[in-house]
Amino acid sequence: MGFELTEEQRLIQSMAREFAINEVAPLAERIDRDGEFPTVARNRLAELELTGIPTPAEYGGGGADYVSYALVIEEIAKVCASTAVVLAVHTLAQAPILKFGTPEQKAKFLPMLAGYKALGGFALTEAGAGSDAGALATTAVLEGDHYVINGTKTFITNGDGAGVMIVMAKTGPGEGTKGISAFIVEKNESPYTVGKHEDKMGVRGSHTTELIFKNCKVPKENLLGKIGQGFKVAMATLDGGRIGIAAQAVGIAQACLDESVRYSKERKQFGRPIAANQAIQWMIADMAKDVLAARLLVHNAAALCDSGQPFSLEAAAAKLFAAETAMKHSIKAVQINGGYGYIRGAKVERLMRDAKITEIYEGTSEVQRMVISGMTLR
Ligand code: CAA
Repeated sequence: MGFELTEEQRLIQSMAREFAINEVAPLAERIDRDGEFPTVARNRLAELELTGIPTPAEYGGGGADYVSYALVIEEIAKVCASTAVVLAVHTLAQAPILKFGTPEQKAKFLPMLAGYKALGGFALTEAGAGSDAGALATTAVLEGDHYVINGTKTFITNGDGAGVMIVMAKTGPGEGTKGISAFIVEKNESPYTVGKHEDKMGVRGSHTTELIFKNCKVPKENLLGKIGQGFKVAMATLDGGRIGIAAQAVGIAQACLDESVRYSKERKQFGRPIAANQAIQWMIADMAKDVLAARLLVHNAAALCDSGQPFSLEAAAAKLFAAETAMKHSIKAVQINGGYGYIRGAKVERLMRDAKITEIYEGTSEVQRMVISGMTLR
């Protein structure tokens, strides 16, 4: 693949950058401090037609490619990782409908999500099924025209605001991953209860909740894909989702680099800027090198996805490397910023807390290594 961005990709990148700097950055500290859902930013994202970037235009989406999507997520994550993950999960919820949905499901739900008439979510994780996603216990039983869903989901991003939730549940107990099916659950039509709100270390503006399904009746036409295909639906969705989280991590890492460069040129000790010290220069060199490599891995996975080639391994590699880059260098950025970087309200302090989650959600770094080693050794 070539690594030059197209004219269209550059345009969407600069539009997202301008929006992020002018409209999201001023809200970012408050979003983090108060755990405030980025409503204003989200509404503007919809106006700018960024709420369904890779969803085809015929379904009300942006009709752009995954490279463009990654560019937008990176730009937003540079200023506010919370807003970036809200957008990433909203976009993730559209992917399985596009890939596995019936024509009726696509016509109904994609314009709703891409046009931001409803926020999207993805409910796979449960208390006993995190990395071992196949171990979920939520059940869905067909009764007449409806599936009846019972169970509790945990750590669900956009859990309290989502109007359309992709829910994975057991339809064939005892059949392992082949006994799982996926459903499109519309909150208005199939009410469920939003449980505990998690008080998180980072990405505090993205709301993470429990979802409790108690005899939740979902029309049988909302089965997504075939019966028993839900695990594959979830895994294929996460392949694309991991590109989004990897792009978020690149944005966080780039912001760490930018803050380190800015501060090390401004801060004077021993009569000269600390950037004059080789100790700082080498930290900055390693940051710059890793950010560049992480971005190339993200664009590589996105370009493979765009060209219809397999990209599971490449997405896992991008997510693993970008997340570890963000975490490692956010610690260095705090170190370079010294005491000032350790104070609440310092950008690098927030970046360090936000970086950590990229090593955990949408598959931990250990899960990414399982995916990469499994595919490399098979
Ligand atoms: N695409 C399509 N199918 C896939 C697939 C993929 N990428 N990966 C696996 N499958 C299929 C396999 O081919 C297999 O099918 P067959 O039996 O027909 O061959 C089936 O799924 C089972 O595969 P495995 O045996 O590999 O499954 P496993 O139980 O060993 O689990 C795992 C593999 C990679 C560890 C998986 O459980 C996993 O990814 N776990 C992490 C879950 C995760 O990422 N959760 C994130 C939650 S969402 C989130 O975080 C959003 C947010 O808030 C930001």
